[in-house]
Amino acid sequence: MSEILRVEGLHAGYGKVPVLRDVSFHVNEGEVVAIIGPNGAGKTTLLKTISGLIRPTAGKILFEGQEIDGQPPHRITRIGLAHVPEGGRLFPNMSVRENLLMGAYSRREALRTGVLEEVYEMFPVLRERSRQMARTLSGGEKQMLAIGRGLASRPRFLMLDEPSLGLAPKLVDAIYGRLQMLRERGLTVLLVEQNIHYALELADRGYVLENGRIVLEGTGEELARSEHIKKHYLGL
Ligand SMILES: Nc1ncnc2c1ncn2[C@@H]1O[C@H](COP(=O)(O)OP(=O)(O)OP(=O)(O)O)[C@@H](O)[C@H]1O
Ligand SMILES: [Mg+2]
Repeated sequence: MSEILRVEGLHAGYGKVPVLRDVSFHVNEGEVVAIIGPNGAGKTTLLKTISGLIRPTAGKILFEGQEIDGQPPHRITRIGLAHVPEGGRLFPNMSVRENLLMGAYSRREALRTGVLEEVYEMFPVLRERSRQMARTLSGGEKQMLAIGRGLASRPRFLMLDEPSLGLAPKLVDAIYGRLQMLRERGLTVLLVEQNIHYALELADRGYVLENGRIVLEGTGEELARSEHIKKHYLGL
């Protein structure tokens, strides 16, 4: 299995406040890897650092063997890495279609290559709503749009920050059904979740991040069985 992402000894934070401390992990091509951990653990900070929004203070981030740390976000998107941020961060006063086009690396190319059609096939509700303003979508539709926008750049590596946040169980099922489809198509995914049950069921492997450090790793199954997870995360 070839490695697509490797993070080595990563330290990052906000100003002088350290958040991530010596974080190391990797993701192989075609894998779904979950990062789980409590509120404030540094999960969002980790994704932001990988996608170039935060500069690491130490450590390395390698994408397909190339160092990408310190590069600007647009450059990182261009090499095939997409980040669906926490809460989606849509453009509320733009239509669904416009939001999707904003996710594409080049608007003209997106129109020429039919990437919108691909996204609509995966999320038919977005086709129905294509002219509607993003702000008028339901919570589940917004999350689908956020994922669709991430896919519009045709990434090879998709990072998702809490795709199930604030959604009713039925919608969480719907979103995870779509993620399963993406996985079957061979897309590599790095998933941050607090919904541990869903995340560990989907993921091939996972890492537990607490206080900015990775404290546990294993396959989805191993983590689901671990005493630490059962006690602190599943309340068993
Ligand atoms: N812009 C910021 N400026 C200063 N501190 C921040 C900023 N964003 C986050 N932090 C702090 O960094 C730490 C990690 O935050 P982060 O958002 O990465 O956690 P998280 O694991 O994603 O949590 P959650 O599950 O609640 O989303 C927290 O202590 C948080 O208060
Ligand atoms: Mg977060």
